[in-house]
Amino acid sequence: FAATAMIAGLGLLAVGCGSSSNAPSGTADNSKNAGSSAQTEKVYNVGSDASYAPFEYVNDKKQVVGFDVDVMNAIAKAEGFKVKYNNTAWDGIFLTLDQNTNDMLISAITITDQRKQKMDFSDPYFEATQMIAYKKGTNLTTLNALKGHTVAVQNGTTGDDIVSKAFGKANSDIKRFDAMPLALQELANGGVDAAVGDNGVVVNYVKNNGAGKFDTAVDPNFPKENYGIAVKKGNTALLNKINDGIKKIKSDGELDKIYEKWFGKKK
Ligand code: ARG
Repeated sequence: FAATAMIAGLGLLAVGCGSSSNAPSGTADNSKNAGSSAQTEKVYNVGSDASYAPFEYVNDKKQVVGFDVDVMNAIAKAEGFKVKYNNTAWDGIFLTLDQNTNDMLISAITITDQRKQKMDFSDPYFEATQMIAYKKGTNLTTLNALKGHTVAVQNGTTGDDIVSKAFGKANSDIKRFDAMPLALQELANGGVDAAVGDNGVVVNYVKNNGAGKFDTAVDPNFPKENYGIAVKKGNTALLNKINDGIKKIKSDGELDKIYEKWFGKKK
């Protein structure tokens, strides 16, 4: 019995290691898809701030999962490469490309002109916009209405940009947090009047934590945002592979399938 338990224990340990690197379920097949060079096949490091459900979060098995992970896995499978997910804090995440600790980033990252100066982006794979969450009955439905109120954002995001531009960057009504759940928690605690963040994440939070307590609104002036996968500036070889994969999963319906899994049927 003892020996069995020990072997079982080792087995569990091995499984644990595998899942911490969080290889996609299709990994074994990927090597087949890749053809001959299975043994020397490169494993790409993928950085993601996994505190952003439903795009990327850590499940109860300590794996990084979510819409973005499914998208990345599908691209990797289509292109025959392997990926390993590194949970990477948003603050400084872009620097990890130049530091070579991550080859690419998928993290609900909005493609912006400013960011494009420092890194390269794939073609868009998801459309988003900013959304306001506010206490029911307060009617803080527009950026203008928010003026004079305290607003929580995730530091260094497009939500931060929008509020900073409207309020002035140094305005103390803006409360910046390192992770979006902390910003939303502050709203739940009554520490701020509203929070601004990506619509998918705000909707998900209100559904799971604030039903009945919060309302949400999209200011009609909030621009459309597109999520892209970021690579180190000049890494065209990798970028081409990613874009080729995106093209494939768009045309074969895989991206739509993943969308429906996480967000339901497209309206
Ligand atoms: N889309 C927004 C941006 O690019 C927020 C992304 C935050 N992502 C995350 N995983 N925390 O600024």
